[in-house]
Amino acid sequence: MSLELSAPTQSEPACADDGVWLECIECGEQWAPFDDIHYTCADCDSLLEVRYAEPPTFDDFEGRGVWRYNAALPFKEGVTLPEGDTPLHEVPDLQEEIGVDSLRVKHEGMNPTGAFKDRGMTVGVAVAKELGVDRLACASTGNTSAALAAYGARGGMETLVLLPSGKVAAGKIAQASLHGARILEVDGNFDSCLDIVQDLANRGEVYLLNSLNPFRLEGQKTIGFEILEKHYEDYGEYPDRIVLPVGNAGNTAALYKAFRELVAGGELDEEQVPTLTGVQAEGAAPMVEAVENDRDEIERWDDVETRATAIRIGNPVNAPKALPGIYNTDGTAVAVSDEQITTAQRQLAEAGIGVEPASAASVAGLRKLREAGEITADESVVCLTTGHLLKDPDAAFEAGGDPEPVPNDTDAVLEHIDDEQSVLDAAIQGVSKATDSSLAAALGGLVAAYLGYRKLRSNGE
Ligand code: F0G
Repeated sequence: MSLELSAPTQSEPACADDGVWLECIECGEQWAPFDDIHYTCADCDSLLEVRYAEPPTFDDFEGRGVWRYNAALPFKEGVTLPEGDTPLHEVPDLQEEIGVDSLRVKHEGMNPTGAFKDRGMTVGVAVAKELGVDRLACASTGNTSAALAAYGARGGMETLVLLPSGKVAAGKIAQASLHGARILEVDGNFDSCLDIVQDLANRGEVYLLNSLNPFRLEGQKTIGFEILEKHYEDYGEYPDRIVLPVGNAGNTAALYKAFRELVAGGELDEEQVPTLTGVQAEGAAPMVEAVENDRDEIERWDDVETRATAIRIGNPVNAPKALPGIYNTDGTAVAVSDEQITTAQRQLAEAGIGVEPASAASVAGLRKLREAGEITADESVVCLTTGHLLKDPDAAFEAGGDPEPVPNDTDAVLEHIDDEQSVLDAAIQGVSKATDSSLAAALGGLVAAYLGYRKLRSNGE
């Protein structure tokens, strides 16, 4: 089985180009990487993986960012802004409150366009150049489109993005727009957009840069390398577990591939491979459904909904690569509510880490599994936060406090700041925004009643 953790290194087939080839994960058919365009296997239509004759070792890595890992990539360099080298934040308060041995947050929102997609695009656009195509396209819940637009612009190529109408956060459309992509809004969800763009690609109209394109995942693999290297540097060991949000399951597949390659290179023992734990929103959780039922395939959800629009996906196309990653690392998948996502988003913000809702799903999922006892107190955990707060300003406003209007006068501003009423008003607003639960409503009501009572008393005095 080619997706086993311990799959042996393969010898280079005749179709390989400089030690690189494409291989079908189902039937094993091998293809030359850059002669023709392949997204899926021409024989059986299953997913393809990029394969290398030489697995990477840590000693091969030098420089910074994604291209530090070029020993594990198809090229030495690509169209770069540059990307990668993102922080692995310490979060001592969250770590203590959730109750794990160590917790770090890998903030992929610190990439050039504010999401992990840049890692895939720097490689994907380089492949597009190698293939000599000129029109790039993707379906997107927003972040891929922003990255495609920026990297396409940098590479001097035409870009076309298909977005689900009304379901893409403002920051992401703004990026795609300013970087010069043609934005096509489809009256359907992300999965319908992907169906259409796949048709366009198969008709030769566009070069597809969704994560179905195996080269995209090569760049995203570098998240795994970075986490392992930094964690080892800080703690002298690799993390026990990596928790990440799941949409199309590209990242889950990419991280698993990074670990397989290091195992093949003799750099990691199988038992050192971190446990992959995927998190989806309750309203879009086909991967969780598959894992809970121990299935090797997902069933497409036609109706999906969540405030975390980045992962509002019902047909994770990379599931055939990602499910083995979860199963073979003893991982799991869990669904979280939008409320739990917002709570986690707020807690990350309290630690100074600004993320969009989908990103916070990782922390919400960790909390849920820890509370359920499925994750134990002795674990070292890395949560992946995939996109920056500014991607979705509306969600940030909703989760945070509102601006308070004040007069244009210093004394009046001072009076307002010290005014008990305004302080309590802000507190009520915070409580009632914190959660939609009846407890919060009751709390809000109590504070309001107390305020009313105080007002009556002070009027009477
Ligand atoms: N987090 C964010 C912020 C995302 O934008 C995405 C995917 C994911 C998580 C899920 O990652 O697909 O690798 O499982 N966004 C895609 C897009 C679908 O079009 O921007 P995945």
